Amino acid sequence: MCGIVGYLGTQEACDILVKGLQRLEYRGYDSAGIALMNGEALNIYKIKGKVSGLEELIQGKDISGGLGIGHTRWATHGGPSDVNAHPHYSSDGKLAMVHNGIIENYGSLKQELLNKGHEFESETDTEVFLHFIEQIQKDNNCELIEAVRIALTEVVGAYAIALISKDDPNQLIAARKGSPLVIGIGEDKKEFFIASDATPIIEYTKDVVYINDEEIALIKEGELTIIDVKNTPQTPYIHTLEMELEAIEKGGYEHFMMKEIMEQPKSVADCLRGRVIAEQSHVKLGGIHHHMEDLMNANRIVIIACGTSWHAGLVAEYIFEEVARIPVEVEYASEFRYRNPIIGKGDVVIAISQSGETADTLAAIEIAQKNGATVLGVCNVVGSSIARVSDEGAYTHAGPEIGVASTKAFTAQLTVLTTMALMVAKEKKMLSDVNLQKLLFELEQVPQKIEETLKLDEEIKVISALYKDATNFLYLGRGYNFPVALEGALKLKEISYIHAEGYPAAEMKHGPIALIDEEMPVVFIATKDSSYDKVVSNIQEVKARKGRVIAIVTKGDVLIPKMVDHVIEVPDVHEILMPMISVVPLQLLSYYIAVMRGCNVDQPRNLAKSVTVE
Ligand code: F6R
Repeated sequence: MCGIVGYLGTQEACDILVKGLQRLEYRGYDSAGIALMNGEALNIYKIKGKVSGLEELIQGKDISGGLGIGHTRWATHGGPSDVNAHPHYSSDGKLAMVHNGIIENYGSLKQELLNKGHEFESETDTEVFLHFIEQIQKDNNCELIEAVRIALTEVVGAYAIALISKDDPNQLIAARKGSPLVIGIGEDKKEFFIASDATPIIEYTKDVVYINDEEIALIKEGELTIIDVKNTPQTPYIHTLEMELEAIEKGGYEHFMMKEIMEQPKSVADCLRGRVIAEQSHVKLGGIHHHMEDLMNANRIVIIACGTSWHAGLVAEYIFEEVARIPVEVEYASEFRYRNPIIGKGDVVIAISQSGETADTLAAIEIAQKNGATVLGVCNVVGSSIARVSDEGAYTHAGPEIGVASTKAFTAQLTVLTTMALMVAKEKKMLSDVNLQKLLFELEQVPQKIEETLKLDEEIKVISALYKDATNFLYLGRGYNFPVALEGALKLKEISYIHAEGYPAAEMKHGPIALIDEEMPVVFIATKDSSYDKVVSNIQEVKARKGRVIAIVTKGDVLIPKMVDHVIEVPDVHEILMPMISVVPLQLLSYYIAVMRGCNVDQPRNLAKSVTVE
């Protein structure tokens, strides 16, 4: 939700900032802007729309300077427009700032500043925040960093900010609370980079410092100094990034989403590596060690997540209850945080998040921890906030996911959660050695079965062409395939803007069946599992009402193909592992339909990859 970048060093800042914004554009694309400091000249260029528009805007302009900040926006306060675009100026025009997050008490701060004669150009909370810093500096006649520090003790909300000042053209200040911020340190400290995640930095350096909540970073004279809001110095801890540049490039694909769908055999294999060795009946997540006993003896597991990650949680509920016999509840993080949840010692919370930055999930974790629950994080982004605040956890190792619609992160989440459930089942001796080993062998084969499923690409493209103009879709599945139905519907609606609903197939007769006529495409996830016969009956109910059925079936199924309009055959696998396979055709179906409708699949309207506001 908004991306920020900054640069201070020996190179020209402009190119680095613009490239960085392109890498962060998945975080929001309502507007883009940069501020460049050249000596004491401060030039700001900003525009509604995408970074490509900013690139056109700066053609022929003065873009020199070795210090700058940049922003790509997902609008919160104030709609997308040139004036609401960041960076913003202070009223004396000396300061420029970019901000990712929301300042909740901006209304009262704004009134206070209006009383003191401030005027505002935009409707944003960010401009208020910056003027507030400016006013504090004036009132206290202090250094900018001190004014920032004081301001941060008074603002309520979430922020990652970067500021530059004409008074000190060799200084870059950044701070965070609740929104991510990474600082890259170039060779011999000749240059420093700041960004919302590591993707704009990886090209230049692998040495990074993750800024913690309520910390302020000052970059000046080749040094990075960090203090917290109480003015206590902090020691920067330098991490080495393991990500490679190729991982964040399209690699010949037209869209990141397609690249990421196609990467799934590899991402699932990477996720299993060293964790599952079927030959030896080995199943272990190294990141869960000190809290393994808590997990094994949990009164119950509460899974908290949002969106696609929540769907992965639903699959995990079924698997944990089946193989480890621990009661599981799956909660939307946004609901959990605003009720008075009964949670405490003895409960284990599994927080699932691709980005590791989702504000609702972070807030829910805080409540769970306050009440004494153990929190295990399942995150994709290494070093992300959720990964760091969790008591322990396991990374999904899917590599950077840039397409806004989550694909490979979902299958990697399922891989980790299945591994976790089997690890607990093994330790609790809930499965016989033979059954455990059989499941582990099947799990090891999942990457190859996804590979096989991806070969259906052309076939799915043909079906997509037939349904690209539909206005509604229904997705139905039962058991392990019910969350897959939800995920298929979410994928379609978010990237193609076709209305789609996912339902447990048996629920159809309690309402949605009224929607079915010859115009309604119904996607059944009807693989051979314990609810197969029931699903066959549901298909018949839809066909009796002339619905048009696309069925995902197990290879070799002879019954369903006779009943439906289209079949997509996926390889057979144990039912607990089927969601990792059966979701793949649904990802491809939504991808092709969206492309054929001319939609921007990597950057669907109104969405952002990392939802760092509530
Ligand atoms: C859908 C999608 C979103 C995210 C959700 C949670 O394709 O990407 O529904 O799954 O915003 O995000 P994370 O997993 O980063 O917490």
